[in-house]
Amino acid sequence: MATLASTRPAHVPEEHLGDFNLMDDPSMLPRPNGEPHAAIAKLLDGPPVFYSLNNTRNGEGAWFVIRAEDQRRVLQDGETFSSNRNIFASALGETWPTIPLELDPPEHGKWRSLLNPPLSPRRVMNLEPFVRQRAVELIDEIKARGNSCEVMSEFAFPFAVSIFLQFLGIPNDRLMEFVGWANDLLHSTPEARTKAARTVIAYLDDLQELRRREPTDDFMSFVTQAEVDGRKLTQHEVKQMSVLLFIAGLDTVAAALGFDFLYLARNLDDQALLRAEPQRLTLAAEELMRAFPTVTPVRRATRDVELHGRLIKAGDLVACPSMTANRDPAEFPEPEKIDLAREDNRHVAFAYGPHRCLGSHLARREVVIGLEEFLARVPEFRIKEGVDPIVNGGFVFGVENLVLTWN
Ligand code: HEM
Repeated sequence: MATLASTRPAHVPEEHLGDFNLMDDPSMLPRPNGEPHAAIAKLLDGPPVFYSLNNTRNGEGAWFVIRAEDQRRVLQDGETFSSNRNIFASALGETWPTIPLELDPPEHGKWRSLLNPPLSPRRVMNLEPFVRQRAVELIDEIKARGNSCEVMSEFAFPFAVSIFLQFLGIPNDRLMEFVGWANDLLHSTPEARTKAARTVIAYLDDLQELRRREPTDDFMSFVTQAEVDGRKLTQHEVKQMSVLLFIAGLDTVAAALGFDFLYLARNLDDQALLRAEPQRLTLAAEELMRAFPTVTPVRRATRDVELHGRLIKAGDLVACPSMTANRDPAEFPEPEKIDLAREDNRHVAFAYGPHRCLGSHLARREVVIGLEEFLARVPEFRIKEGVDPIVNGGFVFGVENLVLTWN
């Protein structure tokens, strides 16, 4: 298991340490045929709360809250468990929160009200024809190249990025540049990450200026014209929001699609069923989201608080992996079984509480439409022999390489 690298804080007794590390546990690192969901689900057999050393980029430890009920308590209580963590700004050596993700109540609420309408189910419905068209174009390009593809780089990632571009009002001819920046931002060295963060911000700042002068019908125009507390938003606030949309909806959507393709390539009966009965896809995508969620929300305690006899001190990080909550037997009968017709599926892939994913309507439609069009256009696909898929765990689980082939 993991090497425990950083020092144990004085208030954490030895017996409250857990031998698991989201950052560099071997089961979490990118590897061929990795099964990070199965590995992390084993934590459900152990203590409900434990402290793990060296869990963040700066080597800070974190408390892990394993069970769904306890995670609800943490994620619904924004006063005790703060979201203010400067994840994006830290790449620039700066300290400012993204909006609304890293704001706490009551400030958080007013931004959330502003952002709900442009991400509502009705607005998402207006975007659907474009989402479908992008899916079809990418799949047609793949088919024109032959009878195999690396589905992450040729479909899932450019698909998610091009929908972000459309949503913000950025021309699609910038697609490959944005794909590159997103990749550097999310999967590269600290230097490349900083460079990409600066480039993306500069681009979004220019776009913002343009839309203030010449608004059209897109998200950037909406936020540059919108008002909060009876005033227009500042340039900095618009930046704090638009960079969040960039990081929130790319890896997450691509990873969800990646895990779905991986499952379907390994389970040909289910693939055949969904191809024959595509009306099952909406329910099936929810079950796959339950079984293969990707995000671990993290909070920082604002006061001392006790959970299952553990003292979480003010300032401690608290991690709530959706992967363990989604396989908690107290919430889901037979949690290890993947049942594509599972009803009443209240999974937490999109989190609980005030920060519950604002893009969940869009994300759901992207995943379902992406799968629908792929299954409609590509015959039975499998994993290409001799090319093992690379899967990673960590704070956002993902699929890095998945080569599919068909006849
Ligand atoms: C399958 C895809 C997605 C998953 C699994 C996902 C998951 C999540 C999770 C777990 C959170 C809460 C994080 C926390 O509490 O710390 C969140 C927040 C958020 N997500 Fe998503 N997300 C997805 C797609 C998207 C998309 C496509 C967008 C944008 C269009 C988006 C926008 C946001 C925003 C703005 C927040 C912050 C909400 C707030 O703080 O009030 N997400 N997402």
